[in-house]
Amino acid sequence: MYEKYSEAMKNLALSIMELLGLSLGTCKDYYRDFFQDCDYITRCNYYPPCPQPELTQGTGPHTDPVALTILHQEDEEEGLEIFTGGKWQSVPPVPSSFVVNIGDTFMAMTNDIYKSCVHRAVVKRHSSRQSIAFFVCPQHDKVIRAHDSLIGPNGKRLYPDFTWSQLEAFTQKSRRVEDKTIKHFAQHLSESSSAE
Ligand code: OGA
Ligand code: NI
Repeated sequence: MYEKYSEAMKNLALSIMELLGLSLGTCKDYYRDFFQDCDYITRCNYYPPCPQPELTQGTGPHTDPVALTILHQEDEEEGLEIFTGGKWQSVPPVPSSFVVNIGDTFMAMTNDIYKSCVHRAVVKRHSSRQSIAFFVCPQHDKVIRAHDSLIGPNGKRLYPDFTWSQLEAFTQKSRRVEDKTIKHFAQHLSESSSAE
């Protein structure tokens, strides 16, 4: 069952990569090929009811460090919120549909043309909530670097080259705060390369 789910989600992820490639004017296969042998992590989130929901958070504000997240909200409870237009807005569950989030890795691959999305999960007083997050990550040692056609007239890449191994290790060591993770990571990389 789990294997079937992962296989289907990976295929969906590759189709989304094709659409992203088309939308960015790289070629349709550019991201699909890059992620053909991608790694993935599946996480089941369970948010129990909380007597004082205003004092806690299911998951605090963060961006996902991966390339893409495909989230299925399992029940009819609202809880996922994104920060957009200067405020938190609920993303209500729609039956038989997924929420697709751009993560920091894909943002770096597009030189910030696509932005990773700040989101959080809030809890409810009387009801529990479950979601399944399918995180799409590049193969561990593949170099992540914005495509030449996306770096604009001044030819500046906003992030140093990195690998998912490096970013994953960084997120496990440092606290992830709102949209700062990738900026802190880029800073950490440039400090460690200038210390060499
Ligand atoms: C996550 C996440 C939101 C949710 O797992 O990274 O943001 O609604 N989950 O469970
Ligand atoms: Ni998340």
